[in-house]
Amino acid sequence: MKIHSANFIISNTDVSKCPKDQLPEYAFIGRSNVGKSSLINALTDHKKLAKTSGKPGKTQLINHFKINDEWFLVDLPGYGYAQVSKSKRKTFQSFIKDYFLQREQLVCTFVLVDSRHEPQKIDLEFMQFLGENGVPFGIIFTKADKLGSSTLNKNITKYKKQLLKTWESIPTHFITSSETAMGREDVLNFITEVNKN
Ligand code: GTP
Ligand code: MG
Repeated sequence: MKIHSANFIISNTDVSKCPKDQLPEYAFIGRSNVGKSSLINALTDHKKLAKTSGKPGKTQLINHFKINDEWFLVDLPGYGYAQVSKSKRKTFQSFIKDYFLQREQLVCTFVLVDSRHEPQKIDLEFMQFLGENGVPFGIIFTKADKLGSSTLNKNITKYKKQLLKTWESIPTHFITSSETAMGREDVLNFITEVNKN
């Protein structure tokens, strides 16, 4: 898919203030620092569209980006180890939950996991939450450039094994790097296919 335009539309913490357009949208969620904002920039080939940082906790709002005037990418705050106050973390949790439970335009969520790490309880629980609430999701393994191919394959195999303990089949998944653009076309092709339906 060619990206002709990618525009920031609005940031907020209130799902009722998200764009009213009836366009399909794709959200990115995962632990702080996993690479959600970087992946949005890599997919759109716009280096500064979404704000990124080496420090966890950069994205703190629901951010809508309109792509090709036809669909949205949504950057969300991370969960997990963001260095924010406990009360702020609670607020995050409640508006993120509202977003997933209430946003009718959301057609698919990508749960990002760092390809270097062992399966994390918080991610598995989050997938469980999405599954229980009927929110379709795929998994994106990030930062693949940081591993050699054999370690990468080993880690992905291990992750799949873990998933099969809870899920009957392995959800749609992608292996990506925002540094090398690995997996970019796969994710964009998937979005193209979903948009057709
Ligand atoms: P929060 O907004 O804090 O939740 O983080 P995030 O998930 O949006 O992560 P972000 O995109 O800001 O990236 C975090 C750090 O990881 C930055 O220093 C990025 O440069 C780095 N990073 C992200 N993706 C990749 C990748 O594919 N490869 C490498 N090598 N570094 C990456
Ligand atoms: Mg971010």
